[in-house]
Amino acid sequence: MTIVRAALGAGLALAAVPAIAQGGAPVTATSPDGRVRVTLTTDGDGRAIYDVSRGGKAILNPSRLGFLFTDVVKLERRLAVTGQEVRDFDESWTQPWGEWATIRNHYRELKVRLKETTALARVVTVTFRIYNDGVGFRYEFPDQPNMATTKIADELTEFAFASEATAWWKPAYLWNREEYLYNKTPLSAVSTAATPITMKLADGTHVALHEAALIDYSGMAVTRTEGNTLRANLAPGAGEAKVTTKGAWSTPWRTLIIADDAAGIYHSHLMLNLNEPNKLGDMSWFKPGKFAGVWWNMIKGEWSWARGPKHGATNENVKRYIDFAAANGIPDLLVEGWNVGWDGDWFGNGWDMDFTKPTEDFDIDMLSAYAKKKGVRLVGHHETGGAVTHYDNQLDRSFAFAAKYGMKVVKTGYVTDAAQLERVDADGTKYREWLDGQWMTNHFIRVAETAYKHRVAFDSHEPVKGTGLHRTYPNWVAREGMRGMEYNAWGGKNPPEHEANIVFTRMLEGPMDFTPGILSLKGEKDSDILSTIAKQLALYVVIYSPVVMVADTPENYAKYPGPMKFIRDVPTDWSETRVLNGEIGDYVTIARKHRGGEDWYVGAVGDEEAREVAFKLDFLTPGKRYKAEIYRDGDDADYRTEKRHSIAIESRVVTSADAMNLRIAPGGGFAIRLVPTK
Ligand code: NOJ
Ligand code: CA
Repeated sequence: MTIVRAALGAGLALAAVPAIAQGGAPVTATSPDGRVRVTLTTDGDGRAIYDVSRGGKAILNPSRLGFLFTDVVKLERRLAVTGQEVRDFDESWTQPWGEWATIRNHYRELKVRLKETTALARVVTVTFRIYNDGVGFRYEFPDQPNMATTKIADELTEFAFASEATAWWKPAYLWNREEYLYNKTPLSAVSTAATPITMKLADGTHVALHEAALIDYSGMAVTRTEGNTLRANLAPGAGEAKVTTKGAWSTPWRTLIIADDAAGIYHSHLMLNLNEPNKLGDMSWFKPGKFAGVWWNMIKGEWSWARGPKHGATNENVKRYIDFAAANGIPDLLVEGWNVGWDGDWFGNGWDMDFTKPTEDFDIDMLSAYAKKKGVRLVGHHETGGAVTHYDNQLDRSFAFAAKYGMKVVKTGYVTDAAQLERVDADGTKYREWLDGQWMTNHFIRVAETAYKHRVAFDSHEPVKGTGLHRTYPNWVAREGMRGMEYNAWGGKNPPEHEANIVFTRMLEGPMDFTPGILSLKGEKDSDILSTIAKQLALYVVIYSPVVMVADTPENYAKYPGPMKFIRDVPTDWSETRVLNGEIGDYVTIARKHRGGEDWYVGAVGDEEAREVAFKLDFLTPGKRYKAEIYRDGDDADYRTEKRHSIAIESRVVTSADAMNLRIAPGGGFAIRLVPTK
């Protein structure tokens, strides 16, 4: 059901207010609850400046707006406010899959119209959507004579934070794309950061700065200019301009989630709400679920993607993995290295990849029939090696091929260094593109639309960052875009605090294909992962994705039947999600309700320190009894010792009136399944 309330009268009528802001009189509006306030005014030079406050306290001091162009004078000074409109909006919508079944979209919108007082007389509308938990704003340019074509050199949007803060951020524009650990520094020590960047202000208020609905534009990183001021720094394009547009255009939404604590940041729906509704249509063909993979042995270097004696994707191996998936109720199986193209040095060189040509030792007809008989589907894999045009050229037939063999999900990949993605235009001109550049943001939409045509979903590795576009393109079910489990196979493993960082940073982008569940706790050359076994289970609840990998090998899972039960039981689709407690980079506890069931799941992860975590079970239905199946760190568990596999599995009966107090070991966590019982 959709409920829409407008500010004045019925429907979505706009309340047009005559131009009142002459000579810089401020234009202002608040969130529906009156706490978050945005004000826009012009300074003595006619610069448009905006500020944001919450509960009367400044979050952003006056911050500048504007653009630099490569061909014409910048748009920044000599602007006048020529009009404003305010409207209220309140509707609820249902997600086809997700962390919450129903999402309320409740905001007050303020549109401020600006016009240059010079001969160019360019006009722009700045639209703010003010939520009880934050603000999104974007620039909207109508088609106009002096902006028929726009070549943006950079955006001048500033975020002048009003107080010192601690910031969790990762560097932007380095060679390894988005796969860096988070830095924790004072805001005044940030250099150039990718978004989301999450901050804890001096008074404890939490703020996450990011963007929503990144389409046909370049991604925004932020560079600190001075003090606590960050400024937009758009991803470069292949040519001189970072973004080129024609006619009318708008930027993505620049977003600030504002909350009292870390949990409040996670609970915000602002990112999804600032995206357009589902453009594709029916999604009932897609079922969230887990997938196993002919994968971890490749990541560990024991098997190869390429053909030869170590080839992983052989008929024999794949059949064994299908049997494993079938025996454990895992509906899908990823197979990497199944196609022609991997034999050379494929890193940054995907021109041999063909996603309709299986290798001789991978009999796709036989294997897809065998899988079908066992109730398992194959998951496709398109590793482009960064040869993006080559992928574009075979996109349609590649997804048709996947669909023909019953695949509902394809994992894609773009393994190359940053700024090395290969684009070749129709006239043969070659370019090297950035992952977050305008051309790539459009490439990913082509993938979404083509995959949807064949009713296939996709999970992109080395992707453009997430900006809530899975609302509009709900077959874009997951992405990587951060250091996932694979780093634990190699040297330089993820530190224990990693997941407690990414919940409040990377996860604000949307689902992540983290590939949890390495119960062996072993990477390459028998190296130890910096985790306890209970934490591996917790990740199934803590790190959200509708498609979640059961990432270890069948042989390893056979050694841990007790913990394996949790992996079999845990679903990947939720009607309700609550962050029960947490501090960025220290720990977090999340409870989620199975969508379509009455069972709840709780997961908690910590950092390198041991701690007790207490929480109430008041999310359970009152009056009902639940059997709590608890998988917690053993009393001697410790990620630094041979006791990293120490786990206690116990059960007790609880109700919504109860509380729990569980210990997390160094590098540990816990997972709980709560099932209604008599
Ligand atoms: C990097 C991805 O993150 C990983 O999952 C994949 O196996 C390799 N690329 C090969 O495509
Ligand atoms: Ca990767």
